[in-house]
Amino acid sequence: MKNSTIELILERRSVRHFQNKPISDDLIMQIVNCGMFAPSARDRQNWHFTVVTNPNTIEEINRLTLLGMERLGIEKEEGYHVFYHAPLVIVLSSIIEGYSEINAGCAIENMALAAKALGLDSCIIGQTRYMYHQANIVDINRLLKIPLGYEHDLSICFGYSEGDYPEAKPRKDNLVDYIK
Ligand SMILES: Cc1cc2nc3c(=O)[nH]c(=O)nc-3n(C[C@H](O)[C@H](O)[C@H](O)COP(=O)(O)O)c2cc1C
Repeated sequence: MKNSTIELILERRSVRHFQNKPISDDLIMQIVNCGMFAPSARDRQNWHFTVVTNPNTIEEINRLTLLGMERLGIEKEEGYHVFYHAPLVIVLSSIIEGYSEINAGCAIENMALAAKALGLDSCIIGQTRYMYHQANIVDINRLLKIPLGYEHDLSICFGYSEGDYPEAKPRKDNLVDYIK
């Protein structure tokens, strides 16, 4: 039996080429709302979403992340852009307590799937954590409007896909056991 939700989940890919096309506020609000409707342990909703469409801020996050990666000796090809020049970045942070990272993971996947349902694509970006290896935590959290007591978890960028849509990666074997 075909099911559109299951098809959507199976068709989502991490997209790394985006059109130079802005995303409307209406779509952004729907994506964020789906993030906020993710489940969270004990309904703590202990997350914070920083929605960045300001190109200067996106470039600054990219710059700081690349500097952090450089400092750690992580090599990247010339011209690498952490967000692949996507027009929308959402930075997730949370109050660090039990399950908060898992909650953030639930929120981020909800947003990735919501974006796909709205005709957009996305790529989850863990690399933004590297910013903290170069720049000052207070300065970064101020730049990203991360509230006091919250810590950056990870980011996700969105845009309209450009070029060939990525193939699904092969799934590993022997990762499931059934106990009947
Ligand atoms: C927690 C997390 C962090 C990730 N960080 C990055 C990243 O920094 N840069 C990137 O290009 N992709 C990143 N990805 C995307 C993965 O590389 C991608 O999900 C994986 O290769 C499988 O491909 P698919 O999403 O198309 O199925 C991340 C994914 C997750 C779940």
